[in-house]
Amino acid sequence: MATTLVVQLVLLLLLSVTQASAQEEQQPPRQVVRPGCQDKCGNITIPYPFGIGAGCYRDDGRGGFQLECDDSLPVPWLAVTGYGVQITNLSIGTGEAWAYINVTRHCYNSSGSIISRNGATPVPLINSHLLFSQARNRLVALGCPNLGYFVDTAGYYVSGCMSVCGPSKFTLPGSCTGVACCQSGIPAAVDYFEPYLLDIPKEQTDPIFYSNSTTCRYVFLVEAEWLNTKYTGGSLNRTDDFAVPVVLDWAVWNVRNCKAAKRNATDYACRSMLSHCVNSKNSTGYRCNCSKGYEGNPYLDDGCKDINECERKGKHTCHGACTNTPGSYTCQCPPGTSGDATRKDGCRPKDSFTLALKVVTGVSLGVFLPFFMSFWLYLGLQKRKLIRTKQKFFEVNGGLFLQQQIRNYNGTSKGTGGFEIFSKEELEKATNEFAADQVLGHGGHGIVYKGVLEDKTVVAIKKSKMMEEAPTTEFAREMFILSQINHRNVVKLLGCCLEVEVPMLVYEFVSNGTLYHYIHGSKGLDSDAALDTCLRIAVESAEALAYMHSSASPPILHGDVKTANILLDHKLTAKVSDFGASKLAPTDEAKMATLVQGTCGYLDPEYLMTCRLTDKSDVYSFGVVLLELLTRKKALYFDGPEEDRSLVLCFMMAVKVGQHQDLLDSQVRDEMRIEALEEITHLVVRCLNMSGEERPTMKEVAETLEMLRRYHSHPWAQADANPEEEQSLLAMEPRNANYKFTQDCVLDFEASSTYSYSL
Ligand SMILES: *[C@@H]1O[C@H](CO)[C@@H](O)[C@H](O)[C@H]1NC(C)=O
Ligand SMILES: *[C@@H]1O[C@H](CO)[C@@H](O)[C@H](O)[C@H]1NC(C)=O
Ligand SMILES: *[C@@H]1O[C@H](CO)[C@@H](O)[C@H](O)[C@H]1NC(C)=O
Ligand SMILES: *[C@@H]1O[C@H](CO)[C@@H](O)[C@H](O)[C@H]1NC(C)=O
Ligand SMILES: *[C@@H]1O[C@H](CO)[C@@H](O)[C@H](O)[C@H]1NC(C)=O
Ligand SMILES: *[C@@H]1O[C@H](CO)[C@@H](O)[C@H](O)[C@H]1NC(C)=O
Ligand SMILES: *[C@@H]1O[C@H](CO)[C@@H](O)[C@H](O)[C@H]1NC(C)=O
Ligand SMILES: *[C@@H]1O[C@H](CO)[C@@H](O)[C@H](O)[C@H]1NC(C)=O
Ligand SMILES: *[C@@H]1O[C@H](CO)[C@@H](O)[C@H](O)[C@H]1NC(C)=O
Repeated sequence: MATTLVVQLVLLLLLSVTQASAQEEQQPPRQVVRPGCQDKCGNITIPYPFGIGAGCYRDDGRGGFQLECDDSLPVPWLAVTGYGVQITNLSIGTGEAWAYINVTRHCYNSSGSIISRNGATPVPLINSHLLFSQARNRLVALGCPNLGYFVDTAGYYVSGCMSVCGPSKFTLPGSCTGVACCQSGIPAAVDYFEPYLLDIPKEQTDPIFYSNSTTCRYVFLVEAEWLNTKYTGGSLNRTDDFAVPVVLDWAVWNVRNCKAAKRNATDYACRSMLSHCVNSKNSTGYRCNCSKGYEGNPYLDDGCKDINECERKGKHTCHGACTNTPGSYTCQCPPGTSGDATRKDGCRPKDSFTLALKVVTGVSLGVFLPFFMSFWLYLGLQKRKLIRTKQKFFEVNGGLFLQQQIRNYNGTSKGTGGFEIFSKEELEKATNEFAADQVLGHGGHGIVYKGVLEDKTVVAIKKSKMMEEAPTTEFAREMFILSQINHRNVVKLLGCCLEVEVPMLVYEFVSNGTLYHYIHGSKGLDSDAALDTCLRIAVESAEALAYMHSSASPPILHGDVKTANILLDHKLTAKVSDFGASKLAPTDEAKMATLVQGTCGYLDPEYLMTCRLTDKSDVYSFGVVLLELLTRKKALYFDGPEEDRSLVLCFMMAVKVGQHQDLLDSQVRDEMRIEALEEITHLVVRCLNMSGEERPTMKEVAETLEMLRRYHSHPWAQADANPEEEQSLLAMEPRNANYKFTQDCVLDFEASSTYSYSL
């Protein structure tokens, strides 16, 4: 322990000494060229890979890096050897070079004939490391009327523009936008520039083109910046020759990219160890860049040098003691202070602060410790109480019974059918402490949360509201039976949690929302397959209900059939949820009267009167669901006039006067055959019968629907087929297909029309 500390201290000391000596050293001038090479032409610095003379530039077979200089002229002349392009500045960091190129000029006399011109000199950069920068240059045609453009090596037009004369208010100085001056962008990777000026003859042209025409007209490529700074209205009537700056992009172009470049170590241009390769953005090739914290010339063996951040006050602020380190720097508060030295006034005196802290800590310890202790004790007690409460709830909710059932089941056969008793903690973890963003929906019975169990199963967890009376073993038995049900159209009950006052139920997660949202939701039902889907959903839900009614004795009733309780999975397969939820209700008669379960609009009127839930109550509610599917209206809607609010009432009223077809959704009306429509409305009317006994069983409903669905989707039933065959298909149907609505069912409805559905 002690030895490592000593070693560390020694190392630290050594480090600071070396750093100090490095700082004391006189910084040598930054090396940009190879040793022994000319580093300047006039005042223009020539960084390697550019260079003058053999061995001073990068020679890889392509031109562009070899330059020639003539210092003897009054203005030094630097040009690219073999290309004749005059260079005025070079940048390693951005990979840009600035060149001067001569403009192309034509001058005319007042009758529109050429009186003088300079030759159109092509500027070739072919097979070099240089390209005209697309981003930084513009093609400009100056003077009017003027059509200027440039061509490629094959003589094909590349880019150009036309400028027109005229005393237009848009001829503002500095705006090169088509009147007396125009500009155009150029494509990427242009390596050849040959400008042309099209002479526009005066006689054949609209005079408006020629009013205020300029004597000389130009075309040239120029740095876009030039238009903002150098171009003014005065530029229009100039008659001289001049040169303009253009921006060239350069990169190492003898290989395609960094990956290829790194394969040949001798040819690789990024020589400095502290550099890396950067692919050229808009073309092939690569450039080099010094690593972070270093600067200089990455193309030279030792070219990248550490940046002394401490000396650059503007970029790297440090209000404390700045220490430069290789590639970075540290900034510390002066001794005796602490804080953030990179901020102004970020350092604070240490001692007084700690003294204050000591006092505060001492006092608070003395005062708060007893409080804390007692609080802690209290928490402990609470926790024990909590565990006891949990155990109590578990027992009251039939947990012991359920445990035994599961154990028996395990003993006798292969498994529990996946039923599990969850602890409260497991469910809290799965739902992120029942976070608000996990809520899938609010129902009359409680809140449904989405949860992810430890094994990554996604589940829906239903947390019911308070109940008046605690559930019993009866409840647990029911849960267990439900959990053993395995039907593809019933949402599977995976388990429950009994450690809480009101048991929480864990269901399989169904991803695609409810039938209610599917019908009434915003994303519409208007697809062609909607009717088929609706029929299929109706059949599937009916089958699920029929199955539940017949699978156990006494039958498992749903008690709250409605579109919001029919879930849809990713394939839009119906899955009926919330079975037996009504059984969570108390059985005590007195309380029952005040606690009729169900949903307005779907409630069986007979159930309301007798308070006895039967399988026919589910049939009634399912009738409302069917009606909703056919009309695509909500079971209760609040936007119509008072008497039209209930879908069932409305429908019955319409049936009475024979206008029920008008109520149906237009797609249903158009796509279903008339016999099928009659049959299905007949089915709905039977389901909605006031007397439960008169209603069909769920099994009958499912069978009729399945038959109708087959009739609807049968291809030759859709086409105008043989009427005899149609007849025979309908004849399979045991009941009379041509049922006429009798006065009976209308009377039924009248008898109940005064019945109030409000709860
Ligand atoms: C070189 O000096 C000339 C004037 O002497 C100046 O216009 C030009 O901008 C300078 N170039 C560089 C790269 O500093
Ligand atoms: C030359 O290029 C360098 C690097 O981009 C730039 O800092 C400098 O101002 C340029 N000089 C002139 C005269 O444009
Ligand atoms: C540009 O024009 C000047 C004279 O105006 C001439 O000396 C120079 O050689 C020309 N440059 C090129 C590349 O043609
Ligand atoms: C313009 O030049 C053409 C050809 O050189 C000549 O015929 C014509 O007279 C000139 N017009 C004027 C107004 O000088
Ligand atoms: C432009 O032309 C019109 C008519 O051709 C003339 O009245 C006006 O003075 C001219 N403006 C200039 C600036 O030459
Ligand atoms: C043309 O140049 C002359 C001076 O050379 C100037 O007085 C006149 O205003 C210029 N005309 C235009 C249209 O800029
Ligand atoms: C690597 O590059 C050098 C110089 O350009 C060349 O002479 C040599 O043939 C290259 N080696 C390979 C393996 O390509
Ligand atoms: C690459 O091309 C895009 C448009 O094609 C341009 O916006 C961008 O500035 C170019 N980048 C460079 C480095 O030239
Ligand atoms: C090169 O490095 C400098 C500074 O580290 C950075 O600003 C620049 O964007 C880099 N250039 C490229 C092409 O990555």
